[in-house]
Amino acid sequence: MVMDGLGNMNPPKNGDRPYFIKEINEQPNALAYTLAQFMGQNFQLKMNRPPLDDQTLKSIQKTYITACGTSYHAAMTARYLIEEFAQIPTVVEPASECGRHHSLVDETTLAVAVSQSGRSPDTLAALDLARRRGAHTLAVVNEADSPLTEAAMGTLLTLAGKVHSKASTKAFTSQSLVLALLGLRLAQSRNLLRKEWRQEIESFSRVPEMIREALMKKDLEPKVIEVAKFLNPYFQTFILARGHLLPMALEGALKLKEVAKIHAEGYPAGEFGHGPLAMAGPDTPIIMFSFSDEEEANSLSLAFELKARNAPLILITEDGPKKDQALASMADTCLPLPQVPSRLRPMVAVIPLQLLAFHLGQARGLDVDHPGGTLQPEIRGLGSEDTAKSQIGPQIKSQPAPQILAPGAPGSPVSVQAGSQSGPLDSGPDQAGNGGQAGGQGKAGARSGKKGNGGAPDHP
Ligand code: F6R
Repeated sequence: MVMDGLGNMNPPKNGDRPYFIKEINEQPNALAYTLAQFMGQNFQLKMNRPPLDDQTLKSIQKTYITACGTSYHAAMTARYLIEEFAQIPTVVEPASECGRHHSLVDETTLAVAVSQSGRSPDTLAALDLARRRGAHTLAVVNEADSPLTEAAMGTLLTLAGKVHSKASTKAFTSQSLVLALLGLRLAQSRNLLRKEWRQEIESFSRVPEMIREALMKKDLEPKVIEVAKFLNPYFQTFILARGHLLPMALEGALKLKEVAKIHAEGYPAGEFGHGPLAMAGPDTPIIMFSFSDEEEANSLSLAFELKARNAPLILITEDGPKKDQALASMADTCLPLPQVPSRLRPMVAVIPLQLLAFHLGQARGLDVDHPGGTLQPEIRGLGSEDTAKSQIGPQIKSQPAPQILAPGAPGSPVSVQAGSQSGPLDSGPDQAGNGGQAGGQGKAGARSGKKGNGGAPDHP
């Protein structure tokens, strides 16, 4: 494991490492910066500007979260925590589906749109629809200077830094963390979690460290490389998970499809026996998450079925003794993660799948930075820029000025101005020598049009 003086792992040497792996390894820093802007003294959470002020939050009866692609998977993680922490019914919907049916979004709704670029037309249209229905609107976004930030009543920034790789990694885990904190903020506004508060906040503040530990784990990457070599000749795989880990299975499958061009499907493990099991066999390896004893017990009979069909089984699990070793003994290989508190598992469990997408993509000789599976913002979803403009533009202009929440306490490592083109963290010319503008082929260039990466400065 190579480290640079700033704590980034595997920094690119002379620009020879793809941005995709560079950004995977930047996750601990991205999350640390993101977290720092919301953590106050004495475990206070700095998230109390509109629409997250106490008065507005008291009127909130439901949460509606919407996004596209990887950001949608981050949105899915939020549902569990908001319902569990704050007991607020939460609907998560792909932005492209928004407005296609009768929806219960109204003035008692907190509508949250999640986006790395802040420019996906469907996400913009979904937020706008929610606003027109009277909802309180919030953007969780990496680009401070973006149409989504302009359109929403308030913004929670992810400070993941510049994003060059088309396939999202560090923005994803940063979004998941911000949404977890949002769940805590909503709980706080309802006077819930009073006893558990300190423990929960402490736990989430350890996410960057936990992800760093996973990335540095000696035996993880070599095993992932073995699995990548093993998967190379196959055409398809399933990733099975339960509960909080399900969004990670869906996200891992998206990364494998996008970056490594293998057909991969994320599936609820408990649903697999209701039809899809017919696909399991020697030509379809199955990747399965299994962490707790309870998960092991639930997955055991399915594992027997898979082995009876000679399907190769790859387990993503954590170190340490389990009461029942039966599942591990049935697996062809185990990808080991460090032990982490159960709440943090999803954000850590996605790491081996991101690494797998990278190594399988490399093994297949693919350009992992430009996999070509993500539409440009102008032509994504709504069909054309004109359609997007006609549906979104006028409403955006009529919005009040954005309020950026907790833009970085004095003295904290983070200090980003809303809408600034180059914050103090902006490193100027990027790795590709683009003079601070995102490269035309890079994700930031593709997603942000001509503007470069406005509000998503690089980390030092
Ligand atoms: C996949 C990926 C895409 C984006 C999606 C939404 O790796 O990056 O699925 O997540 O296109 O983009 P944003 O988050 O910019 O709205």
